[in-house]
Amino acid sequence: MICCKELSYLTTATGTSSALMLNADILGVKKSMNESSSRPFIFINAAMSADGKIATIERKQTRISGSLDFDRVDELRATSDAIMVGIGTVLSDNPSLTVKSAARREKRCDQGLDENPVRIVVDSMARTPVDADIFKKGAGMKIIAVSGSAPKEKVKGLSKAAEIIVAGEKTIDLEKLAVELKSRGINRLMVEGGATLNWGLISAGLVDEIYTFIGNIIIGGKTAPTLVDGGGCLGEFCRLELLSCEKMEEGVLIRWKKR
Ligand SMILES: NC(=O)c1ccc[n+]([C@@H]2O[C@H](COP(=O)([O-])OP(=O)(O)OC[C@H]3O[C@@H](n4cnc5c(N)ncnc54)[C@H](OP(=O)(O)O)[C@@H]3O)[C@@H](O)[C@H]2O)c1
Repeated sequence: MICCKELSYLTTATGTSSALMLNADILGVKKSMNESSSRPFIFINAAMSADGKIATIERKQTRISGSLDFDRVDELRATSDAIMVGIGTVLSDNPSLTVKSAARREKRCDQGLDENPVRIVVDSMARTPVDADIFKKGAGMKIIAVSGSAPKEKVKGLSKAAEIIVAGEKTIDLEKLAVELKSRGINRLMVEGGATLNWGLISAGLVDEIYTFIGNIIIGGKTAPTLVDGGGCLGEFCRLELLSCEKMEEGVLIRWKKR
């Protein structure tokens, strides 16, 4: 099912910020504390193994959680304005990042929203394949965030299927990107990895909450990605407050808030 507003996104690949603004106004989800801030409320959701890995040493995602958790993640997607991933995740897993439940998609459309949240890739050098599943599957707006160093031809190719935001010279300036997204009406941003993007956002102080499902599996491997990779903290650690912890199927769902 494609709602009317979606048609306008489909006809103008670059999208319109006013339509998004409208979406944000209509969105019936809990208004975040960041509504008046210059950036969206940003939360990470990830599934990790009992040993803290989010994928295998081949950087391939493996099933860590069960159907209950999949459904929880689907609800988080459906109640977000946008979902963000890093280019590493697109190249490894080729996720579509769509809302899977037809009832949830329909509910979004009834609220005047696109059936899927805006899908965003953090991709300095415009390496997102033009035939990636985020372009092929599910209706709704896409944004590729590139740096000023991205090859012009690649950016041109992607601009046919997505809005392009340039933020940063060599890598993406995530703070600048967050402000740009907010100005487009994105108030609630869900981040679905991977390890390097999680680090980039956390180290820039841009993450408000983290959901981690810890599954009953050990993946192992020194080079397998963990929840947060990147350069690592030296002294100034990111401190968290535990909001909730519950058993779910054969694992545990933990919700953290940044202190
Ligand atoms: N279990 C889960 O919940 C879950 C969820 C998602 C992903 N994963 C796994 O995570 C792995 C992918 O993680 P990854 O670390 O390789 O890649 P990633 O975090 O998805 O993407 C990282 C890339 O984003 C780009 N980037 C640009 N600016 C950045 C900035 N300021 N900060 C951080 N990144 C920036 C960089 O590439 P450029 O310089 O080329 O732009 C960087 O290499 C895969 O194995 C996937 O299966 C697991």
